[in-house]
Amino acid sequence: MASLTPLAESRRIDLGITCQDRAITIGSLADFEVILDNLVENAVRYTPPTGTVDVAVVAAGQEARIEIRDTGPGIAEEEMPRVFERFFRAKPQDSEGSGLGLSIAKAAAERQGARLALAMREDGPGLVACLIVRMASMKA
Ligand SMILES: Nc1ncnc2c1ncn2[C@@H]1O[C@H](COP(=O)(O)OP(=O)(O)O)[C@@H](O)[C@H]1O
Ligand SMILES: [Mg+2]
Repeated sequence: MASLTPLAESRRIDLGITCQDRAITIGSLADFEVILDNLVENAVRYTPPTGTVDVAVVAAGQEARIEIRDTGPGIAEEEMPRVFERFFRAKPQDSEGSGLGLSIAKAAAERQGARLALAMREDGPGLVACLIVRMASMKA
């Protein structure tokens, strides 16, 4: 989030953390950085100025959900099945990008045994990206 704060500020997006449960997992830090960097960057990039991007880490039983909620246009239902394809970019495509970010994030999630899903928000306009990881059991 620190690395994306300058982009958020330049786009006048309020980027913040709304929930920070303790959640420990085991895996490749590089992969988790790739996933979260792509999800947060997309949220900041595709949300119109003065919008909000909220990041939450929510522990629930043996799993943790990392949710990124934005107030942007979201993704049309008919395009949703294709967003993880390489080079796919949903309309409108007036911004710069390669269409590779989500396919790379998905591959990294699969390597780490994590689940990655996108959906339209139910509490208002915008997209919610959700990464679900299995928590490591921390026995003394
Ligand atoms: N948070 C989001 N809000 C709206 N559209 C999104 C969001 N995240 C991704 N998308 C759509 O999914 C497409 C694919 O995303 P991605 O694979 O990261 O490629 P890129 O960002 O390079 O276009 C984007 O072009 C955009 O249309
Ligand atoms: Mg992207």
